[in-house]
Amino acid sequence: MQFLKPNSVTRIFRNFYNFHKKTTIFYSTKTKNDSNSNPKKLPPNIPDLREFLIVNRDLSLKSNKSAQINPDIPGYLEKSDFSGRDRKVFFEVYGCQMNVSDTEIVWAILKENQYQKCDDPKEADVILVITCAIREGAEQKIWHRLKHLNAMKTKRSKKKSPLQIAVLGCMAERLKTQLLEKDQWVDVVAGPDSYKDLPRLLSLTSHYGQSAVNVILSADETYADVMPVRLNTEAPTSFVSIMRGCDNMCTYCIVPFTRGRERSRPVDSILGEIKSLEKNGIKEVTLLGQNVNSYRDLSQSSELESENNLVPGFKTVYKPKIGGLRFGELLQQVAEAVPEVRIRFTSPHPKDFPDSVLEAIKNYPNICENIHIPAQSGNSNVLDRMRRGYTREAYIDLVKHIRSTLPNIALSSDFICGFCGETDAEFEDTITLIEQIKYNVAYVFAYSMREKTTAHRRFVDDVPQEVKIERVQRMMNAYRKGAAELHSRMVGQNQLILIEAKSKRSDAEWFGRNDANIKVIIKDCDLPVSSCGGEDKKPITSGDFIAVKIVDSNSQVLKGIPLHHTTIQKYHENFKTNRTSSSVK
Ligand code: 5AD
Ligand code: SF4
Repeated sequence: MQFLKPNSVTRIFRNFYNFHKKTTIFYSTKTKNDSNSNPKKLPPNIPDLREFLIVNRDLSLKSNKSAQINPDIPGYLEKSDFSGRDRKVFFEVYGCQMNVSDTEIVWAILKENQYQKCDDPKEADVILVITCAIREGAEQKIWHRLKHLNAMKTKRSKKKSPLQIAVLGCMAERLKTQLLEKDQWVDVVAGPDSYKDLPRLLSLTSHYGQSAVNVILSADETYADVMPVRLNTEAPTSFVSIMRGCDNMCTYCIVPFTRGRERSRPVDSILGEIKSLEKNGIKEVTLLGQNVNSYRDLSQSSELESENNLVPGFKTVYKPKIGGLRFGELLQQVAEAVPEVRIRFTSPHPKDFPDSVLEAIKNYPNICENIHIPAQSGNSNVLDRMRRGYTREAYIDLVKHIRSTLPNIALSSDFICGFCGETDAEFEDTITLIEQIKYNVAYVFAYSMREKTTAHRRFVDDVPQEVKIERVQRMMNAYRKGAAELHSRMVGQNQLILIEAKSKRSDAEWFGRNDANIKVIIKDCDLPVSSCGGEDKKPITSGDFIAVKIVDSNSQVLKGIPLHHTTIQKYHENFKTNRTSSSVK
């Protein structure tokens, strides 16, 4: 952000409000590209920014006697004041993979601004809590944690610099005022589109002793210009964010309100990050977004311009989106750019499954044969109330189409039970769908009513909690039974696994994951370096591709006998894997 350019100063000033008199400076980082930015000219004779900030400081002195203000610091902050001066940051991440990926963006931004990372909250000068608002339970957990962190902050020895607590992510977006009202538990509140503003927000609070908030959602922020810095440098896997936000407006879901409108990161920026990850030893990337298969890079034209992304029997709440490079083409470009890196993607919405996506999986051995296809419910009336845009029948037809194109595809799904008005009979349809489709993995949730959503305005959360809990258990049992059956069919197969780490149970075992993303346990040993066998052997280590023979299974884990080291390309040549014919015996 160009903080000191004269033309931007006026724009910035216009967006400065004394939002919450006692504790808050509210500030917008809108750029000239933001669709909401106000094009009107400012009136003449407005005070300048410096004057405003000094007034604000005086106010804060009167209202907040404990505020520590350094009189040597001028009434405005220069870019150099944003420096972390080697202060230590501790990251606490809650919620989905998107939050892990966002944390790596935040870390890149803070590292660039001279912050250090630490692994112990007691050593930290700043604790960043990256939050989730999808269900009430997730929020409750974070409130408890904030209470605890606040106690730590109060007890902090006077000899040390004061501890700053920042709340980032979806809860920040949803609960900005409550977070700041809670007896100053929190110093900084930053929504998912404000991370580039973090150094300034942190510096505002350390210089002025006030809380600072920026929760403006942007129509175009994709962080394409930030190269994320990995937090877990040991793992051979990484997430790569390809799009942000969601336009689907499922009636139960808070995400469109906390993460804003859908926007895609340009393909060049995605490819750049993936190639750099490959250079740093990463062997698997998961392309991430709230709705990955709605991906459209508008800076590129598409060879599939005329392809209708919408699956037959599916509808959307918005007009058809035309133009731009689509997800199927992105998958293909990624697969070609890094043939020795495994590619996964999550989460897609079932409505956007054009054949180009299935073709890419069929044609590129490095794209895993694994699709997450969240059904949410098996009953068409519930799906209609959820505004999912499909019926049970349309969903089943889509799964049949996917399985006829890719017979060995592993499927996973999300399910919600106890949505507003869900009857016993409606819920039974979810159970029969799980039994009929059979998923390798399913994530099952009890419905949690969220403010702002359409369901909150229109429906009643009338399924008792104990009924929801019982239904969750039944969904879990149904999915486990199907998964156990699918996995038992894998016994006897040769599979390719990527080794992640030593098994938690024993140091004499490793675990890796197969294409279906199921854990495979193998014993630790030296293995032939290739399929030709021979004397030449080497030990197993994290990041190795290993050919294994599956010998045992249950609903969650497989056991394998390790055969030899390999690569993705060699494995597929050796075993002549054919994705169009079933490998089930
Ligand atoms: N209550 C329960 N589960 C929800 N999900 C989204 N919103 C809610 C809610 N209000 C689930 C959906 C989604 C997954 C990420 O979380 O199944 O796919
Ligand atoms: Fe939420 Fe539906 Fe968007 Fe998924 S597709 S993030 S469930 S609104």
